[in-house]
Amino acid sequence: MTFTPYDRPVRTAFIGLGRIYDLNVRAYLDNPDAEVVALVDPSAERQAQRQADWPRAAAFGSVAELAASGIEVDAVECLLPAALHGDGVPELLEHGWHVNAQKPMCNDLASARRMLKAARARDRVLRVMENNLFYEPLRQLKSVLEAGEIGQVSGYHVKMVGTGNGGWDIPWSSFEWQMEQMRLGRGIMVFDDGWHKLSTALWLFGPVREVRAWIGNTHFGPGVDVDAPATLMWEHDSGIRGVWDITLAPDMYMRSDYYTNDERWEVTGSTGYARVNRGSARGIQQPSLEVYAHGQLRGYHALDDDWGSSFRDSGRHWLRWLRTGEGPLLWSGEEAVDVLRFALAAYESSAAGGTGVDPAALS
Ligand SMILES: NC(=O)c1ccc[n+]([C@@H]2O[C@H](COP(=O)([O-])OP(=O)(O)OC[C@H]3O[C@@H](n4cnc5c(N)ncnc54)[C@H](O)[C@@H]3O)[C@@H](O)[C@H]2O)c1
Repeated sequence: MTFTPYDRPVRTAFIGLGRIYDLNVRAYLDNPDAEVVALVDPSAERQAQRQADWPRAAAFGSVAELAASGIEVDAVECLLPAALHGDGVPELLEHGWHVNAQKPMCNDLASARRMLKAARARDRVLRVMENNLFYEPLRQLKSVLEAGEIGQVSGYHVKMVGTGNGGWDIPWSSFEWQMEQMRLGRGIMVFDDGWHKLSTALWLFGPVREVRAWIGNTHFGPGVDVDAPATLMWEHDSGIRGVWDITLAPDMYMRSDYYTNDERWEVTGSTGYARVNRGSARGIQQPSLEVYAHGQLRGYHALDDDWGSSFRDSGRHWLRWLRTGEGPLLWSGEEAVDVLRFALAAYESSAAGGTGVDPAALS
């Protein structure tokens, strides 16, 4: 990679102006590292809505129109529906643009290989953003574990409850492509939102050598299925085990500024435990991180636990990286493939009745 950091603001185009734009854009507002030069979405309504943020940016209905316009672009925020990443990301790279892609990376390993190949061929950087790695309670959890505050880690539990009421509005069109993904075996709980849980597992505890899963299905009506209840278990190379349970509570109200999943991460160590109490919703309204050790419970009351801030910090990290080259770049394209392998191993295990699958052995 012969990438040279930019000595000027990074000229950026947003590709896809839907729901998640509202959070990704936070990294760009009042940021001297970036200049937003173009907005792309087939929806004229979305273009008009987002142009209020960037009156000087040009708006286009397609990537091809942007490429033909002659506007100079250094990097793009790829906020396309997940099913379009497999073809869309290589196309963006082939135009010679660095790509900061939303998760999930893509649906299969062949698409992932095409994406990495396109990045190498044009000598561009492909990043698959993972905002949870920039969520301050999780970052603080990592520091607590690394400092040995709960002794030697023996295992952990991730909990996620999909609740049906509360939070921000999600356009029906977003659900439509999610349901199409579900039909392709890449459901909204395990694969889409699940990407965050699997990423944090790899980031906190390193490579995984075995995955076992039991992925269920709940049918809500014609064409509306959700991949829960589901239980995934795994063992890291270090011997630490993780378990993640996903349940549904369709009539539960959950206070949230964003998505309404009730979530927690609880790590057990030889002398105590540490628990992040929430992510995108405000389920448990105690300190967002609590650490119990040697008979004492300590709460972190002043963390920036607005989940939206993790998007701001993730995007700022990307732009700073393009300006300075100072890493590590969380996550690189290669690291994202490890997350994809982890998810695919869970599907393979579930299909085989819950047997152990080594993610590295998938072809
Ligand atoms: N990090 C997170 O927590 C998080 C949360 C939600 C969504 N996401 C991810 O963000 C991505 C987008 O999700 P969303 O919820 O914003 O979806 P969305 O459906 O709300 O928005 C997608 C937008 O892309 C546009 N689009 C469709 N085809 C296009 C094309 N060919 N070129 C340009 N634009 C096109 C649509 O018109 C729409 O405005 C997905 O990968 C999703 O998984 C991540």
